[in-house]
Amino acid sequence: MDKPEKAYLKSFGTEQVVKYPLDQIRYRSDDGRLLEVVNPMRKLSEDNVADLKQLFDMRQFSRNPVDRSGVWRFREFLSAFAPYDNIITMREGNTPIYTMPVCAAYSGMKELFVKHQGFNPTGSFKDNGMTTAVTMAKKLGARMVACASTGNTSASMAAYAARSRMKSIVFIPEGQIAYGKLSQALDYGSLTIQISGDFDKAMQVVQDVCKRGRIYLLNSINPFRIEGQKTIMIEMLHQLDWKVPDWVVVPGGNLGNSSSFGKAFAELKACGFITKVPRIAIIQAEGANPLYSGFASKERVLKPVSAQTRATAIKIGNPVSFDKALYAVDSTEGLVEQVSETEIAIAKSRIGADGIGSEPASATTVAGVKKLVEKGFMHSREKIICILTGHLLKDPDYTVDFHKDELYADAKRTSSVSGGSKIDTGDYSNKPVQLPADVDKLLDYIDEHAHSSI
Ligand code: F0G
Repeated sequence: MDKPEKAYLKSFGTEQVVKYPLDQIRYRSDDGRLLEVVNPMRKLSEDNVADLKQLFDMRQFSRNPVDRSGVWRFREFLSAFAPYDNIITMREGNTPIYTMPVCAAYSGMKELFVKHQGFNPTGSFKDNGMTTAVTMAKKLGARMVACASTGNTSASMAAYAARSRMKSIVFIPEGQIAYGKLSQALDYGSLTIQISGDFDKAMQVVQDVCKRGRIYLLNSINPFRIEGQKTIMIEMLHQLDWKVPDWVVVPGGNLGNSSSFGKAFAELKACGFITKVPRIAIIQAEGANPLYSGFASKERVLKPVSAQTRATAIKIGNPVSFDKALYAVDSTEGLVEQVSETEIAIAKSRIGADGIGSEPASATTVAGVKKLVEKGFMHSREKIICILTGHLLKDPDYTVDFHKDELYADAKRTSSVSGGSKIDTGDYSNKPVQLPADVDKLLDYIDEHAHSSI
């Protein structure tokens, strides 16, 4: 590719192009819309595309950490960050794609694939966007960064801020984030503020705090987060040798991730890397479903809800990137679906049964595929990639509660303890047992209960 033209910011979803320079700290346009980075993409010749593909291949074997990063390897799509010096990277990305036979059988597919973003440095997909946003924060001279979070954004921001010697401040809904994530923010040295109220309240507060200046906002309303997150799809296509799957399935919360996927496909197509785009299916929890409702309605506007789900990562009722996510779905002829607490819990156990595991929010994807196959929107022979957004160990309480058959939808804290609405785990739970330390009795028990299926 020749030297790219300069990138700029513009307001999203309007014909009127008001350009804002990259070095102006702002999170919305003058008319209050979301901002997006415009990467001037020209249509490339076939030879240029082939050269770039080869360059991406070669960079995997480079000793330069910037090349080895699964985000910065694709920097020709990240022109906002040129000339790519002082990059804060932890070799994020590089996440595997797995075949999932148990999940395929469960969801009615011949084959099913996952790309597991939980294999990132801090255990979630947030690292893809955080490396770019923190790099930009540093470039802009920020000393303090902040975010509201259901847990993973805060863990990721805390790590990248620590690596770049910036102070980080996280606003989390009190008692509503999983301990794996909270422990990360604490260990990486974030000033951790628990707000009474939910994520949506924390999101509003952090925006008000950052508006006063001094502290740079790193939620996905920040367009530089979206840029890095885009590379999840670029890397996925690279791994698939640029053969486009039929569907990409992704959980929907604050909707930054799904928005970035739509942007990735639009840019890849504009410059001639791909000729068709995968359809994006965004899956929400029934109790936190504003995109599902908005997509299904005639007006297609955001009507915030008071969110309720044990998949705490996506317990979000007023998503910031609603408009961008709608674009991602519409521009790819995609779909939005919702799944129940029971559907999430059981799908998660099937991801575990494939030897992979994920956090609950990620399991909406497999639950969503099953539902969309049953409804006839997806077909058993299509190629479908589910994006598992977070690692199993982010929220171990949920998994243990499930297998002990003690998972409550309305638990007071993230761990069940008690509640009025128990989630039916059917035959899928795998209860731990207590036995005396007596070899004969142990072997009797094992003979009776453990049958190898291999
Ligand atoms: N899956 C996981 C594991 C998440 O942590 C999130 C969001 C999502 C899915 C939804 O992604 O917001 O881009 O639609 N977590 C944010 C956080 C909100 O604060 O960690 P989204």
